[in-house]
Amino acid sequence: MSGLRDKRLLFLTGKGGVGKSTVAIALGIAAARRGLRTVVAELTGQDRAAVAFGHADGSSGARELRLARNLHTISIEPQHALEEYLQQKAGPLGDVLAHSRTFHGFVSATPGMRELLALGKAWELSQAPRRTKGAEPYDLVIVDAPATGHGLATLRTPRTFAEIAKVGPIASQGRTLDASFTDPRFAAVIAVALAEEMPVNETLALRRSLRDDCGIELSHTIVNALVPDRLGPRQAAGVARAIEAGGGVSDGSSARASTASSPLSPLVRAALESARSEHVRARAQRAQVQRLADGLGSDPFELPYLFTPSVDRAGLELLADRLEELL
Ligand SMILES: Nc1ncnc2c1ncn2[C@@H]1O[C@H](COP(=O)(O)OP(=O)(O)OP(=O)(O)O)[C@@H](O)[C@H]1O
Ligand SMILES: [Mg+2]
Repeated sequence: MSGLRDKRLLFLTGKGGVGKSTVAIALGIAAARRGLRTVVAELTGQDRAAVAFGHADGSSGARELRLARNLHTISIEPQHALEEYLQQKAGPLGDVLAHSRTFHGFVSATPGMRELLALGKAWELSQAPRRTKGAEPYDLVIVDAPATGHGLATLRTPRTFAEIAKVGPIASQGRTLDASFTDPRFAAVIAVALAEEMPVNETLALRRSLRDDCGIELSHTIVNALVPDRLGPRQAAGVARAIEAGGGVSDGSSARASTASSPLSPLVRAALESARSEHVRARAQRAQVQRLADGLGSDPFELPYLFTPSVDRAGLELLADRLEELL
């Protein structure tokens, strides 16, 4: 699977907690390795990329922060995006507006305005030349977007504003953003999922809503955190038999504890049961991946589960090794 290399903007969404931020950062690392000047733009205020790269306070202060060669991040703050926008558009008047309480009230009271501003900033990052004074253009903008429902609503915002406003700067900004985000040569929406019932359902629903409400085809689906199935069918049957034949648990003193007819030592029983439950989990995941593939009509891209207490830089690099295939 490939096809992301020629895109300018990737929009990652999916159910809460499935690994959107992790995948966004790992994809950023992969793109930077490929020589693409990349920015991971977070709309979620988590500043995960900055933290992963050792910026302890996690604050990029709504500004572009260089993490490594070719790799940058920004946590998009709608308010900051608005101030920038007004300054670009209206010069000193923009400054006055940006600091006017009435205007702030208008922005926070207008449904969808924060989303429109956030998308506008993501779009600005993808433009060459940049509208922000002195800013360098990027080859790739990876948007770590909110979870499915809010993510979809965010993508729908430009069109809504264009329809409501009809004329004027908001309508034209809405139309420009909508045209960019719905252009498959420019942007791709990527779903991140886990191989579990609910995330699979949500991914399939996302694909439908994306098509029906936004006129966008889901470009790729990445199924994250798959555990390896280390046992073949015969080995799995052997493990099940050994557990059954082992019956009770021995005190561990018998040298013959592991033979089929004698009780298993606690350690051997725990190891066998753990092997069996990992196998069951892997099989259940495979069934969900198959359901996802059937629903999508194509195979999702797979990422492994990382057996580390937290996903650190080494883990991200490992996921990036896999994701390079997409770029
Ligand atoms: N492949 C993986 N293997 C193991 N753990 C993972 C993997 N991917 C993500 N995680 C862990 O799962 C948790 C959720 O990941 P992450 O924060 O990236 O999800 P998210 O979809 O961005 O969540 P949210 O909806 O809250 O923004 C984190 O603790 C992360 O370290
Ligand atoms: Mg996240």
